[in-house]
Formats: sequence, structure tokens, C-alpha cells
Amino acid sequence: MKISKINLASFRNYLNCSVSFGPHMNILVGDNAQGKTNILESIIFLALTKSHRIGNSPNIIMFGKNKCKISGVVKKDRVISKLEIELTEESKKLKVNQTEIKRVADYISYLNIIVFTPDDLEIVKGSPNVRRNLLNIQLSQISKDYLNYYNEYNKLLKTRNEYLKILFNNSIADTTYLDIITEKLIEKAVFIYQKRNDYINLINLSINSFYQDISGDSGIQVRYLPNIEIENYDSETIRKKLKHTFKKNYMKELNYGMTIYGPHRDDFIFEYNNHDLKYYGSQGQQKLAILSFKLSEISIFKEYSGTEPVLLLDDIFGELDIKKRNRLLKIIDSGDIQSIITTTDLKNIQKKYLENAYVFQVKNGNVERK
Ligand SMILES: Nc1ncnc2c1ncn2[C@@H]1O[C@H](COP(=O)(O)OP(=O)(O)OP(=O)(O)O)[C@@H](O)[C@H]1O
Ligand SMILES: [Mg+2]
Repeated sequence: MKISKINLASFRNYLNCSVSFGPHMNILVGDNAQGKTNILESIIFLALTKSHRIGNSPNIIMFGKNKCKISGVVKKDRVISKLEIELTEESKKLKVNQTEIKRVADYISYLNIIVFTPDDLEIVKGSPNVRRNLLNIQLSQISKDYLNYYNEYNKLLKTRNEYLKILFNNSIADTTYLDIITEKLIEKAVFIYQKRNDYINLINLSINSFYQDISGDSGIQVRYLPNIEIENYDSETIRKKLKHTFKKNYMKELNYGMTIYGPHRDDFIFEYNNHDLKYYGSQGQQKLAILSFKLSEISIFKEYSGTEPVLLLDDIFGELDIKKRNRLLKIIDSGDIQSIITTTDLKNIQKKYLENAYVFQVKNGNVERK
């Protein structure tokens, strides 16, 4: 899929801006604080209806303004759609081809993206929450079922946690209602465990070869760590295991007043020759492992939806030496991937990549094609 154009109004440091992207590699070059990341952020917002940056959505509205608008033209499977998001302090309006879309789930399949930003080092270094988030975003983009199951799971989880507190506070012994909720929760949990396990397996089919292509080294894999032990991912086995776990830990969960077991406590780790990269990897290794993870996601995406997502790479060249930069560009340049890359300089990028790319100069909230 491709994004051919974006229009921004009162978005961050862009009062009014329109950018027409090329179908393959696009490079945004400019000094610090000129608005390179903001352009990527606007595309992320248009795709996911939220920012990748920490903070509230209204932060994206230009200082001194009370609303902002992002719109874009995307092409997926030969279908062209116009997406539009209008944001005020209080509201967010989503439109596709001028028609308002009420449910986010019905909106986010229009623009598919894979993002890599410097903050992504947190994927290796940060808390499990960061990694679960990543899995949820990617799985939701390739499977509407996943998104629905995941949302329903969270609703049930909330209900179950509230009811555990009620049981505890009122010393109620009858668990009939809790059992009903638990039964429903287990059904959703089984699906989530299976999908996440499948996804991690798919990542492992290609992550190491991307890592090898860029670094010349190998030994990277990811390991899924569901928060209950699962030997076998067939539905019946997981169902039984969860049932048993909830039964065995009833008193514990009652005392805690919350559900301790289930996919909301999952994690996965990156390993380099079987060692956790979080503790043993260099910054460069960690960065490359995450990058390889994202590149693997592109092929998975293509397999599921028949189209490649748009690849957004923010400041990727930072810790990569020249050789690795160009090897990475070679991967990105192959196939039919559209990429949008930011960098502070074009030094060390081989000419052959620059010749085929659309290069844009970003300066003080203006974007101009060079
Ligand atoms: N809501 C806002 N309204 C106006 N300007 C904003 C807003 N939020 C951020 N900015 C401005 O946007 C600029 C930062 O843009 P951005 O993060 O895109 O920079 P960048 O080109 O990626 O820089 P770097 O190379 O340092 O990463 C800063 O000048 C900042 O003050
Ligand atoms: Mg930036």
C-alpha cells in the first residue's frame, strides 16, 4: 500500500503543509527541531488515530490553535481512499471519503504502517507493557478478530476484577457469577494466546536473516513468555490450563482483588545466542534486533493482507555504521515497499539509493522536494 499525499493544518509546527510522496523511498532531511518527526507522527496519527509519542492527543495541535486537521490519500489494492482526522481538545472526528466513521476498529485498516523510532529501544529495554502494546498494534492491524477479542477480553477483565473486589469486600461465598465471567474470559484468552504465539513463530522465520543481512552476524530470535506455562497451543490444552490456574489461585486473586493470570500479563524477549538482549546486548545490537523485528513484520503483513505496509523510519542511522546503513537501505529499496525515512544529513548514503528516492528538505515547518 502507498500513501501518496498528506495535508496538515495546525499540526505541531505545521500551519499548512502538503507533501506528495513517491511510491518507494522518501527521505526527509533537515536539522534538529525542524519538523521531520512531526511529519512521520502525522502519518502515524492518520493510521492509528493516536500518536506514538507519549502524552495526550491534543499535544499535536499547534500552540495557540484549538483544532488541527490531518488528511491523506492512500492506495490499497488499487482502491484509493481519502482519510481525514480532525482533532480538538475535546473531540476526534474520523472520516473516510468524507463519511464519518464512528468506530476506530472500522477505521484503522485503511492505512497500515510499520514504524521504527529511536524510542523503540524501549521494546527491548522497557517493561512488558511496551512489548504487549507492540504485539497488540500489529496483530490488530492484520486481524480484526484479534482486535475484537482483545477489546472484549479487556472488558471482561475489568468486570472480573471489579467482581473479585465485591466478593472479597462482602465476604460472598457464592462464585456462580464469577465462574460465568471466568468462563467467558478464558475463551477470549485462548484466542489471544494462540494468535500471539503464531505471530512470534512467524517473526522467528525471518528475524535472524534480516539481522544477518544488515549486521553480518547472526543468533537473534524472540521468545514468547505467556504468563502461564503452555506446553501446547491447541485450544483444549490452554483452556484446561487456564481453568486449573484460576481454580488453584482463587484465594490469591480474591485477596489481590484482581486477575493475576492471563494474556494481559504476557511478555516476550529478544535473545542473542540464547541470552536476553536486554541484559547482554549492546545498544547497536538492540537497535538492529528491533529493526529486524519490524522488517519481519512487513513480510507477515504482506502474507496476511496481500499488501506491504508503509514503513516509517525515524532517525534510524544514528547508531549504525556506514556499512550497516547501506545494507539496511538495500533491504528497504528492494521489493515494492514505500518507506519514509528521516535523517539530519545525507552523508554516507550511497548515490544509487538517493537517485531513486524522493528527497525532501524540512525547514522550520516547511517541506520542499529537492
Ligand atoms: N503543538 C506544537 N505546536 C507548535 N510547535 C510544536 C508543537 N509540538 C512540537 N512543536 C515543535 O516541533 C519541533 C520539533 O519537531 P520534530 O520533532 O519533528 O523535529 P525533528 O526535525 O524530528 O528534529 P530532530 O532531528 O531533533 O529529531 C520543535 O521546534 C517543537 O517546538
Ligand atoms: Mg526527530
